[in-house]
Amino acid sequence: MHSNIFAVTAALAATAAAFDCNGPYFSFYNRRGPAMSSQRLDPALFPGQQSPHMHDFDGGNALSADVTYESLQDSGCTTARIKPDKSLYWRPALYWNGNGTGLYPVPNSFLKIYYKFGDSDNTKAKNISEFPEDFAMMAGDPFRRSEDPENKAGIDWTCIAEDYSRITAKGFPTGFTSCGQGLTTQLTFPACWNGEKLDPKNPNAHMAYPTNSGSGVEACPEGFQAARFPSIFIEFWWDVKVFDGQYSANDNPWVLAQGDPTGHGFHADFRNGWAKGVLAKATSDDGYCNCGCGCGDDQMRECFGAENVNDDADISTCAAKSALANETGVVEKLPGCNPIQDGPGEAKAMSGPDCTADVPAPGGDDASTPATSAVASQISSIASEASSAISSIVAGVSSIVASAEDVQPTAVSDYLSPTVSVLPANVDSSDCAYATTVTVTPPPVTVTVTASARRHYAAHRRHGRHN
Ligand SMILES: *[C@@H]1O[C@H](CO)[C@@H](O)[C@H](O)[C@H]1NC(C)=O
Ligand SMILES: *[C@@H]1O[C@H](CO)[C@@H](O)[C@H](O)[C@H]1NC(C)=O
Ligand SMILES: *[C@@H]1O[C@H](CO)[C@@H](O)[C@H](O)[C@H]1NC(C)=O
Repeated sequence: MHSNIFAVTAALAATAAAFDCNGPYFSFYNRRGPAMSSQRLDPALFPGQQSPHMHDFDGGNALSADVTYESLQDSGCTTARIKPDKSLYWRPALYWNGNGTGLYPVPNSFLKIYYKFGDSDNTKAKNISEFPEDFAMMAGDPFRRSEDPENKAGIDWTCIAEDYSRITAKGFPTGFTSCGQGLTTQLTFPACWNGEKLDPKNPNAHMAYPTNSGSGVEACPEGFQAARFPSIFIEFWWDVKVFDGQYSANDNPWVLAQGDPTGHGFHADFRNGWAKGVLAKATSDDGYCNCGCGCGDDQMRECFGAENVNDDADISTCAAKSALANETGVVEKLPGCNPIQDGPGEAKAMSGPDCTADVPAPGGDDASTPATSAVASQISSIASEASSAISSIVAGVSSIVASAEDVQPTAVSDYLSPTVSVLPANVDSSDCAYATTVTVTPPPVTVTVTASARRHYAAHRRHGRHN
């Protein structure tokens, strides 16, 4: 019954939304059914590489590890309702861990995405900006394992029974053995910007939530008035029927992909892919789109133009162009280094061949840092950077061995302005093995690069004789 998705889900969402359903915002659904793709990627915090844990993605199908605004524009389709919205929306995959036979990915049933641009009194906020190209942000903290007293993102979870009765909690709720209409969570992204790019080491630093006083960009906290964007609010719905009756009312069988059995570590990311001008028009002071939380097909067409609204068939056939999807399906352990870590303390980023060696997560609630699985590849890129620096001075380096101690789970390469101090020119040719140290700030990250030039020099000398 794809045809009446709007009618059905608008009714559900109306009960879910804890705010006036009429006002300066619009909302839309992605497809009913699975996410566009499940992949161990995070094109905001871990560009160009595999990410520490599994995410479910929706949005533009040009999804890739190193996606840019430009490359997203080449998406052939999007699972967002509005065609010019090639943005990416992702969140950790959810698993069912209820009978000790493996971790079962919980099927997505749909997302409802709202773009809200009202002041606290529900009037249109002035001076709403569209997102810049290559803009990304996140909400929530993957390392959190206990209730956040502030909870600015407003994360909570609800089991919605067949008769629409609801059990809600800040973390995973208990007290039921089925959720006929679905298990849901929701969050709001921040909307006030400090003008900087997302810093993978501190991915929440460039954004803040609007306050209740002031209007438009003036409601933004000091330091975050470079722009006020629409507030993106998302309801995430999962279909958990397949697990009905297989857990008791006291059990918590759910776990998030980063090894979170509490639900407090739910988070989501957004990467802008809106075609230029479209969001600006839909949120402009005159003639903004205001179908609220019950936008129907016709209203979306009115707001964005009939040709710009995906129908369900467009969406359900939209698959990711490239798929690194070899860790999907039932798994014995969570993909990546993600042992299940209960609260209430912050979870630690894990590393090592058995995913046991723990690495201290840097302090601070905002420091939701990438985990160590990325560090190895960063060490090797430091090594190769050092290698080429050394090679340019000493003609020929046969091997570079990089090792690191006390590596913080951060994006090491961001710190690297390599002060590669290589041996002076008067290197003793009878012993060309030497070591040099690349010091990466801040401490305590020190990468020792040992370069052995001996064999190459020998080869070079032999070669020289023939010449
Ligand atoms: C809003 O934008 C208009 C036009 O760019 C500008 O004149 C006005 O000062 C802005 N208002 C605020 C509150 O920033
Ligand atoms: C465990 O749960 C899964 C998912 O519901 C089910 O498919 C499987 O048959 C169950 N296995 C056992 C041994 O109960
Ligand atoms: C999945 O594919 C990637 C890229 O080819 C590879 O690095 C990784 O080891 C694979 N994972 C598994 C579990 O096969």
